Amino acid sequence: MDPDEIERIAVLGAGNMGHGIAEVAALAGYHVTMRDINEEFVQNGYEQIEWSLDKLAEKDQISRDEADGALDRVTPVVELEAAVGDADVVIEAVPEKMDIKKEVYREVVEYAPPEAIFATNTSSLSITDLAEVSDRPEQFCGMHFFNPPVRMQLVEVISGADTADDTLDTIEELAESMGKTPVRVRKDSPGFIVNRVLVPLMNEAAWLVESGDATIEAVDSTTKYGIGLPMGSFELADQVGIDVGYHVLEYMHQELGDAYRPCPLLAEKVEAEELGKKTGRGFYDYEDGDGAQIP
Ligand code: 3HC
Repeated sequence: MDPDEIERIAVLGAGNMGHGIAEVAALAGYHVTMRDINEEFVQNGYEQIEWSLDKLAEKDQISRDEADGALDRVTPVVELEAAVGDADVVIEAVPEKMDIKKEVYREVVEYAPPEAIFATNTSSLSITDLAEVSDRPEQFCGMHFFNPPVRMQLVEVISGADTADDTLDTIEELAESMGKTPVRVRKDSPGFIVNRVLVPLMNEAAWLVESGDATIEAVDSTTKYGIGLPMGSFELADQVGIDVGYHVLEYMHQELGDAYRPCPLLAEKVEAEELGKKTGRGFYDYEDGDGAQIP
């Protein structure tokens, strides 16, 4: 597909990444259908977009007209057919589980136009395996945004075994048209590039605390002020969702071996549904406390 022909984008999943990607696409002028499995999820995602656009307008990072225009271009839907029926590109951002994503693609192929490109926002899973359940492995690739999408510049564009070069070129141009900087990832290996580097750092930080060698605050203070990352490791885990990091690690452990064994501290947080900012509590408290307090 010619990148200039792209007008309509379907985003599947209205969670942290889904609503952020929908916002970025709408700000770039695309008509976006944002779909989730029930009204509550999709409404919540829509409200988050509204909040974020307001925030950007308040700070004069965009004009009020741009904010209103972007919101007008987002249509929240629950029906899958309504979401993908006339989409030029389908960007999928559903939970980071192979079986859930495959189930979604099995359904999407029934309604999406044959020329539509499928781009998955998976953080780690095999593009080739996901593409296999679609009817168009050559029109299927990874398009991996970072949290929060409206603020993060990078997009990894990942080739599966059968992805056509045309598809990768189009998705790279699409990312550029959204104001992002795409980096092409040629090898479809678990965690691609960023998460292969970043998620073990979060895991190692958790092992340090689990073993009693350091406190959460001390680790975060060193990652922030010593290593120079914009956030501490635990603060970042709260930002991306502890469950997301945990599922990426589980998959890397399964595919790459013991070096990636998830720390039990992460499992406990997932079990307790303390997943970070999105649930109001993770390693820090965002409801009653003041969020990350890094000395
Ligand atoms: N929309 C609009 N405003 C937003 C926002 C959003 N989505 N998210 C945060 N903000 C606002 C905050 O509300 C706050 O507003 P306030 O000043 O009125 O309180 C402001 O932005 C925060 O701004 P700060 O000045 O405190 O922070 P910075 O602007 O310097 O940076 C950041 C914020 C860009 C998030 C920075 O901390 C950062 O880069 N953090 C690291 C993020 C990162 O590494 N992400 C990648 C994670 S890995 C990943 O996503 C992959 C996945 O597969 C696991």
